[in-house]
Amino acid sequence: MMKVKDKEFTLFISAEELGERIAHIAKDISKDYEGKKPLVLGVLNGAFMFISDLMKEVDIPLQLSFIKISSYQAMNSTGKVKELIGVSEEIKGREVIVVEDIVDTGVSMTHLLESISEKEPASISVVSLLLKPEALKKPVTVDYIGFEIPDKFVVGYGLDYDGFGRNLKEIYQLK
Ligand code: IMP
Ligand code: MG
Repeated sequence: MMKVKDKEFTLFISAEELGERIAHIAKDISKDYEGKKPLVLGVLNGAFMFISDLMKEVDIPLQLSFIKISSYQAMNSTGKVKELIGVSEEIKGREVIVVEDIVDTGVSMTHLLESISEKEPASISVVSLLLKPEALKKPVTVDYIGFEIPDKFVVGYGLDYDGFGRNLKEIYQLK
């Protein structure tokens, strides 16, 4: 049991399970992008912990930068996406890898992929730690998925409930 603000959560994915899955994804990325020097774009705030742990395990040369978007207010997706920090790197001709914490409705990712595509990268792939297939409203292809989870609110390991819970080592699900 874990209390975050006014809500109760139960343990859903342990730190150990996260670590194992992340090492596996990192191996796949290292293999798929060998010799390609990709530009990794991590999506703040939610993916900060995932990006950090994932990138430590990827063992090919790459560049890493961050973008920031926001679409959530407390527990509901607003359906509108605000770009708070844009991409400052040259995207044109690059192999871009977008790293997200979770693809829920897919609205944020769709918006992000559109704005990156306009800058003519050589390729774009998407890594998301979590995917809620039942919540998808936009067709988004996630190339590397950590865990497919039911359409229930989760916190921890970067994900927040109204700004809280990001620092938890594990992922918790709303009780
Ligand atoms: P989407 O646009 O609906 O796909 O929402 C994506 C963003 O909403 C994610 O990057 C998260 O920041 C946030 N989000 C979606 N589901 C959850 C959740 O269960 N817990 C915390 N944040 C979430
Ligand atoms: Mg996010």
